[in-house]
Amino acid sequence: MPPNNLALIGFMGVGKTTIGRMLADKLEYTFCDTDQLIQQAAGKSIPQIFEEDGEAVFRQIERRVIADIALSDRHVISTGGGVALDPENVNNLRQNCTIFLLIARAHEILRRIGDAKSRPLLAMAQDPKARIEELLTQRMPRYASAADHMIITSGKYPTDVCAEILNLFTD
Ligand code: S3P
Repeated sequence: MPPNNLALIGFMGVGKTTIGRMLADKLEYTFCDTDQLIQQAAGKSIPQIFEEDGEAVFRQIERRVIADIALSDRHVISTGGGVALDPENVNNLRQNCTIFLLIARAHEILRRIGDAKSRPLLAMAQDPKARIEELLTQRMPRYASAADHMIITSGKYPTDVCAEILNLFTD
């Protein structure tokens, strides 16, 4: 039997929400998105939290949300792009989740994100693609070490990515 939950980690715009919803549907699990849970907990949007309270407060709320949701049963958990950078979050997810890292190329990420204003870490960048490449290079080792499986999403249909993950999860 697979562990109770399936968690998706990885950079912004790699398809965590789209794929997560499809997986939850197929598995008959509950879908949740940690960014949404953070917004509910804070009572404001992510750009507002960054602007009014700062990134450190955002990360604190994020840690609490992860600690709670990791204890749940039969959930597909789509995580924000910074979640897997924090060892405490990774430990919590590991207790009860199989962790899949989704990977996409920078230009595809940029295309999917579109208007970067909803992503405070990219909103201020003069050259968003260069900033994405820089953050990807910094983050990839930590993403990779947190993951049980790595899945490339670039150039693939979401249905095929979903099938690939289901095969590994239910194996
Ligand atoms: C972040 C990714 C965002 C959101 C916040 C910080 C990051 O989530 O949590 O803007 O540090 O990469 P998505 O990956 O869902 O865009």
